[in-house]
Amino acid sequence: MFHDSTLLRKVAMARLGVNIDHVATLRQARGGHEPDPIAASVLADLGGADGLVVHLREDRRHIQERDLNLLRDVVPSALNLEMAADDATAKIALRVRPDKVTLVPERRQELTTEGGLAVTEHRKRLTTVIRLFHDAQIPVSLFIDPDRRQIRAAHKVGADAVELHTGTYANSRHPQEIRKEVEALVQGARLAQQLGLEVNAGHGLTYHNIHRLTGIAEIVEFNIGHSIISRAVLVGLERAVRDMRALIPSSLRS
Ligand code: PXP
Repeated sequence: MFHDSTLLRKVAMARLGVNIDHVATLRQARGGHEPDPIAASVLADLGGADGLVVHLREDRRHIQERDLNLLRDVVPSALNLEMAADDATAKIALRVRPDKVTLVPERRQELTTEGGLAVTEHRKRLTTVIRLFHDAQIPVSLFIDPDRRQIRAAHKVGADAVELHTGTYANSRHPQEIRKEVEALVQGARLAQQLGLEVNAGHGLTYHNIHRLTGIAEIVEFNIGHSIISRAVLVGLERAVRDMRALIPSSLRS
């Protein structure tokens, strides 16, 4: 006899976090008021986003503190703040109180976040910053490569979640290379879950490459920016989010 729970176990359910940094990048190109990431957050929500993601960079190249303050009031779903583990940004984050903080490495010259956090090299600093957020009841995710050492270190420093860096997978072209990167994500996700970490994934994911990862049951959240905003330029943000949402199996939105 067919049993419902069997079916449920086979379908990986996951949330979609939409990164709207690029809307702010376009605004900053002219230094004016449009397009406003606050308006984008409303449309992303209407399109079915389960959460909004913004990165407050030290150089303020896109998202500004003003955006963060307003988003905290406006976003009806979860607000995920990506940030470097520095004191100044932590102070802002503790004031704004996002629903989750994702610690990422940050270099001034990079085009986007390149590579995951070297948790093994920054254990002390990360332990301190994570404790700070935990004291304020804010969960912390670490953006890391699907590397066993980094995953174990993320657990040791007290993270609640990891976001597995999918950039190497996204940049892979040859079938053999793609298979290798998917396998690394499968194994990484499995280990992280075994250690009690929530598993998120993101970077470089598109409408054309997400299908190989949606079956990884341990991944409960995908965070996607560039591909969605690029499609939004052509078809509108609400539809672009809805199109991506349709590619990620989900239970009813909570
Ligand atoms: N997750 C993290 C931690 C990121 O730094 C970024 C890029 O801002 C993303 C996800 C989204 O990456 P993309 O824009 O390539 O979808």
